[in-house]
Amino acid sequence: MNENKYYITTPIYYPSGKFHIGTAYTTVLAHTIKKYRQMKGFDAYMLTGLDEHGQKIQEVAEKEGKTPQQHVDDMANMAKELWAKMKIEYDDFIRTTESRHTKVVQQIFQKFVDNGDIYKGEYEGWYCTPCETYFTPTQLVDGKCPDCGREVKKMKEEAYFFNMKKYQDRLIKFYEENPDFIDPVYRKNEIFNSFIKPGVEDLCVTRTSFDWGIKILNDDKHVIYVWLDALTNYITALGYMSEDETKFNKYWPADVQIVGKDIIRFHAIYWPIFLMALDLPLPKKLLVHGWVLMKDGKMSKSKGNVIYPETLINKYGLDATKYFLLKILNDGRDGVFTPEDFVELYNSDLCNDLGNLLNRTIGMINKYFGGTIPNKPEKLTDIDKEFENTINNSISNYEKEMDESHVCNALSEIWNIISKSNKYIDATMPWALFKEEKTQELEDVMYHLVEALRKVAILLKPIMEETSNKIFEQLSINNNDYNNWENINNYPQYNGIKVTEKGEPLFIRLDVEQEVEYLKEIIKGK
Ligand code: ME8
Ligand code: MG
Repeated sequence: MNENKYYITTPIYYPSGKFHIGTAYTTVLAHTIKKYRQMKGFDAYMLTGLDEHGQKIQEVAEKEGKTPQQHVDDMANMAKELWAKMKIEYDDFIRTTESRHTKVVQQIFQKFVDNGDIYKGEYEGWYCTPCETYFTPTQLVDGKCPDCGREVKKMKEEAYFFNMKKYQDRLIKFYEENPDFIDPVYRKNEIFNSFIKPGVEDLCVTRTSFDWGIKILNDDKHVIYVWLDALTNYITALGYMSEDETKFNKYWPADVQIVGKDIIRFHAIYWPIFLMALDLPLPKKLLVHGWVLMKDGKMSKSKGNVIYPETLINKYGLDATKYFLLKILNDGRDGVFTPEDFVELYNSDLCNDLGNLLNRTIGMINKYFGGTIPNKPEKLTDIDKEFENTINNSISNYEKEMDESHVCNALSEIWNIISKSNKYIDATMPWALFKEEKTQELEDVMYHLVEALRKVAILLKPIMEETSNKIFEQLSINNNDYNNWENINNYPQYNGIKVTEKGEPLFIRLDVEQEVEYLKEIIKGK
């Protein structure tokens, strides 16, 4: 096995409508993790894609007067355009209607049948004919269809079931032996205590009520259940069971699979069991995140509270958009988007803390030393030593957090360096050193500020690449090895290189009232 590989997946999204910032979040997170691994020398591989089958997609297409295939083709273009705009460098984009996927899903299904994991039985439930949908007794509203309110009747039909119960003990053992499989752990406890321990139920894995799906071999009135179809994308995309299994052999098992809290059950129960039935190793980690919420709850078009990534990117830039999303969701919990918070975070963290630090440093080096970065100090004051220690600590904490894919915490470590740097300026008072002609001390302070910014730019690379590049450019350390992770802990000799004469601001201060108003109108859909 290749120890240097790193395989990251996003869920495959339902192409039922335009992607909002919640969907964008998952992909940004995955991309950030990929870039971090690449920075550390890994052969990182990121998969994303679309989950194109199922009744819901068929219905959406009908409403638009399109065939399902036309609809998903259009949506695939939409998705790829968005990811291009967001500079997401995925390695593969899987669509479940592609034959490289459908053919393998049929074979997987057949293998389950041959091995006795799937058996033919009868599905029984309350059926609503106009809606062509089965409901369980608890889903009914006053004994009637929860969707249209009409009479339902008890019906039985032939269906295929996956024997989940057979794997119950192995699944429990797996969780006992791998207590860190689901991150954060409290999400594991929820799923383990309420679904796994009480006993898993066999799962109905075929449908006959609609036909936009993958048909099973030899019995084509049955369509394969969307989740069995969808979950296998993580291996079909790598060429599992195809003529060329090179990628599969190289990258499977996944190192981290990112999922939102609403789909944890599928990835924490069914997916591991399917893999056990295929005799394949399980992924190493399931990283669960919460939802991006609006003040009045989940985003939905009917509520008129949706915000799209394009809106934020066009007006405030890609990096500010990513910063906000990565910042508000932490430790598997929900985060709330409000115009007020967005503008506040933009102004305080990006403009004031980071932007001003760069601006002040560039300005002072120009003013005091004609733009030349001073030489490395020969001795350190106590303040300098403390400053260096803080930075080194934050770098090592950042690494620990990023190794766990905890991007929000890693951001906090970067901003700790930034805020300590601003405090370092206040404590050393370069303007006073200049006045008192303490040239050596002044040089040393400037050197330390450049170092802090250089390190910040390296740490930002996988998260906010544009900003990182701008910092390197303004410091003129974009054309040497000092912008590499390998050199982050070094204190280089800059040998007289000059910073830019006048740096463009990284972020331009926003007028709070005006921008909050603008965003509120956009959210209302005006
Ligand atoms: O569930 N905030 O697709 P999906 C954060 N096709 N994340 C959000 C979100 C929000 N407001 N809304 C959605 C599916 N998501 C299946 C997956 S994988 C084999 C099949 C996240 O388009 C959601 O949590 O409904 C999920 O992780 C992902 O977007 C896809 O959701
Ligand atoms: Mg969903």
